Order: sequence, then C-alpha cells, then structure tokens
Amino acid sequence: MKLGFIGAGEMGGALIKGLLKSGWPKEDVLASVSSADSARRLTQQYGIAAYTDNRQTTQKADVLLIAVKPAVVPQVLAEIKTAAVKPVVCMALGWTLEKLQTALPGWPVVRIMPNTPLALGEGVTLFAFGKEVSAALRRQVESIFCRLGKTVELPESLFDAGTAVSGSGPAFVYAFIDALAQAGMLQGLAREQAVELAVQTVIGAAKMVAVEKISPAALAQKVATPGGCTAAGMAALQTANLTDTLAKTVAATVAKAKEISGK
Ligand SMILES: NC(=O)c1ccc[n+]([C@@H]2O[C@H](COP(=O)([O-])OP(=O)(O)OC[C@H]3O[C@@H](n4cnc5c(N)ncnc54)[C@H](OP(=O)(O)O)[C@@H]3O)[C@@H](O)[C@H]2O)c1
Repeated sequence: MKLGFIGAGEMGGALIKGLLKSGWPKEDVLASVSSADSARRLTQQYGIAAYTDNRQTTQKADVLLIAVKPAVVPQVLAEIKTAAVKPVVCMALGWTLEKLQTALPGWPVVRIMPNTPLALGEGVTLFAFGKEVSAALRRQVESIFCRLGKTVELPESLFDAGTAVSGSGPAFVYAFIDALAQAGMLQGLAREQAVELAVQTVIGAAKMVAVEKISPAALAQKVATPGGCTAAGMAALQTANLTDTLAKTVAATVAKAKEISGK
C-alpha cells in the first residue's frame, strides 16, 4: 500500500520517520511539499520520493494523508478532487468529517489527530471514520497507525478535548520536564544532569502508571511517606495548584481548537 503525504513538516515528517522505523518500505512512502528545498531534504533524509506537485502524490498513492496547515487544506482538497476517488486521511486541526465529506462528496474520509511521539513508535492517534469508509478500509488505516503507538476511536464531539490532551499534550509534558530540570538546577544540579534526571523520571513514572494499572494519585501517595520529604514537596505542589493550572491549559487549547474550526 503506497502512502502519499500531502505536506510533510513537523507532523507529516514525524509520521514518515515512525513508519520507516517500523519497517514500512521507503518505496511505499511518497510526499509532496511546497518548496523544492523541503522535497530535497525529505529525499536525502528518508530516501523517499518527494515532489512539489500534489498531483504526483495524488496519482501514485493508494491512500492520501493530508498534513498541511488547516488554512491550506481547501486548496489541497480542490487539487486532489480532480483525481480518482481514494481514501483520504486528514490530520489538520478543525477539519471535521462533515467539512471533509462536503469538500469530497462520496470519498472515504478519515479524520485523525496524531502526535509527534509517533516518530518513535510511542504516539497516540485519535480516529473518526466517515460514512463511506468500509470495515476493511477502517482496519487498513488503523493498521498503519497501530505500528506507531496507541490508536483510539473518539466521537467527534470529543475530538477537541482529545486533541488538547494527546495532540498538544507533548508540549505540556516538555514544559513540565523543563520546569523540573530548572528546579533541580536552582538546587545546584548541572543543566545536563538535571535534564537527564527529569527525562528518565518522566519515562519511568509514565511506565509505572501504564504497567502497574494503579491510579497516578495512588502511586504518588506510595512515594510520599507521611512526614517525609516527598510529602513536603507534594504539599507545595498542591498549594501551587497544578490540577487547576492544567485544567486552564487544556481549556485554553480546546477553546482555540473550537475557534480554528469555526465552532
Ligand atoms: N505539529 C504537531 O504536533 C501536530 C499534531 C497533530 C496534528 N497536526 C496537524 O498537522 C498539520 C501540519 O502541521 P505541522 O506542524 O506539521 O506543520 P508544518 O511543520 O508547517 O508543515 C506543513 C507542511 O505542509 C507543506 N505545504 C504547505 N503548503 C502546501 C501545499 N499547498 N501542498 C503541499 N504541501 C504544502 C509544507 O511544505 P514546506 O516544508 O515546503 O513549506 C510542510 O511540509 C496541521 O494541520 C496540524 O493541525 C500537527
């Protein structure tokens, strides 16, 4: 199955990287981008065919993956519409199934929201399937993303919430790692050492939650012996109200997603 990326910047590039790392043949991945420089870079970096003409990708691919900025999507859909009907997977923020189906009547369309850790096989991809998508195509599309981490089907009414937690979430976690490392530096750790400790701690703690199947709050309690130093730190964290800060962070992200999609 040949996958054709229309747009291959941060997100499309992360997907291509993850797919190739997972063993997807490079001959079965192609892309078109806006500048000749980006096309050259993609070929040099990944050994894939890359063009500056979307018609090339549209004609040669079996499945099209749209990874351009939301504002560029109308132009791209108008271009691909001139080709034979084929499955279209769109990851542009705010591009609902209804909008996609209106632009491409009768085409099987899938709305997804991936995140950049897909590049390392540790991503999350949210899915919603259009009415023209057969059960076989559904399995086929899911099987592409299963190789790159978790896949979760969501009703579209929850897409903005899911987008805030997993699509934008990596940025929030990077900010947390940075803040933890900076806090360690204030206590005398060297920058490199502080970042290394913070990163491995986040990896380890996330794995504990995933593997032990115990709630994060219960795990936090296990680490914080009453009267001990972790409990003192947790009390300071509660006073600073991390929960409220993250609620505001996610709410602001959802509000922006709604604004972009014109809701
Ligand atoms: N970044 C994320 O973490 C993330 C997460 C989930 C979803 N998304 C979604 O993914 C989409 C892409 O975001 P991004 O962050 O990857 O953006 P980006 O880094 O700016 O990449 C955009 C890509 O689109 C190409 N492009 C621009 N105009 C084009 C056209 N007319 N035809 C074909 N290609 C064109 C660009 O080519 P040049 O390089 O030549 O300019 C570039 O490769 C967005 O809709 C966003 O909502 C992003």
